[in-house]
Amino acid sequence: MDEKKYFQVIDADQRGAIAPSAPTCLYLEVTNECNLTCKTCPLTYGRVEPPALLTLDKVHFLVAQFPSAMRMVLHGIGEPLLNKELSEIISYLKAAGKYVLFNSNATLLNARWRQALIDSQLDEYRVSLDATTPESYAAVRGKPLFPLILNNLEAFMTLKRRLGAANPCVSLWLTGLRETLTELPDFLRIAHRLGIEEVYLQRLVYWHDDNNEKLATADQSLFQSLQFNEEEIIQASEALAKQLGLRFEASGATTPAIAPSPNGMSDFTVFAAWPYAIQTEIDAPRPGITPTRMP
Ligand SMILES: C[S@@+](CC[C@H](N)C(=O)[O-])C[C@H]1O[C@@H](n2cnc3c(N)ncnc32)[C@H](O)[C@@H]1O
Ligand code: SF4
Repeated sequence: MDEKKYFQVIDADQRGAIAPSAPTCLYLEVTNECNLTCKTCPLTYGRVEPPALLTLDKVHFLVAQFPSAMRMVLHGIGEPLLNKELSEIISYLKAAGKYVLFNSNATLLNARWRQALIDSQLDEYRVSLDATTPESYAAVRGKPLFPLILNNLEAFMTLKRRLGAANPCVSLWLTGLRETLTELPDFLRIAHRLGIEEVYLQRLVYWHDDNNEKLATADQSLFQSLQFNEEEIIQASEALAKQLGLRFEASGATTPAIAPSPNGMSDFTVFAAWPYAIQTEIDAPRPGITPTRMP
């Protein structure tokens, strides 16, 4: 099985109320705290649980219950690098033979973390860069930290090269907003310049409430409403990625569009079927359905 396509093993159409087999993938939210205030993120608009960190002991306890789960995703909603036990957690999971990855905002990727992520043998470090300029970064991610992140990434890629470390595989992630889709070609160029070989266009999960500030809204989402020039941007980006030798994908992408259901969250794998189905609709965040299953 390709670890990056594990979800394709499960045929959503065939799935009944009771799972026929034990999970192959676990999402372990190592913290629900964050240092950013992204305009797309439910956490920015209200907390549904008290702040918490997952300890190594709890990870032992959880992982022991799911021996079939070989892929461990260490983010939910929150920034994983805020958990000081993270490198011990990764090392433990790697020693148990698991494939380990997480998304991160990379604002805290200092020299200590750069070395620790390599030493712990993390498989994938997925960076939510979401923009190509300091201005658009601040508009989407809430804080003016674009130059800091680029410096962190440059230093990380240099360290990897110096140590000859193949892992972690570093990728850049752009959440699909109408406002930033035009930046996609430059996003690919930034990846190429940094020596990052993978870029992902991530579907926007949106919800309904009265907040006028948030960007996670239906009209921001591109799903099923790709305009002509948006399609053109995506096609041009595919060609550019090929030319630059980059792997470029929408998260969980494979076959043609399938219509959304009113309760999109429970049908997440169905949405994951279309290359540019970069939207999932959920109800307003509340305990139990906060979209911790972002790709
Ligand atoms: C919730 S974050 C947690 C990990 C880390 N804090 C980060 O930003 O990468 C997980 C992923 O969800 C993305 N994300 C944030 N808001 C989203 C939304 N409304 N729809 C889809 N993805 C979103 C982030 O960009 C990130 O790649
Ligand atoms: S998307 Fe990630 S970095 Fe942004 S507020 Fe949410 S958890 Fe924090």
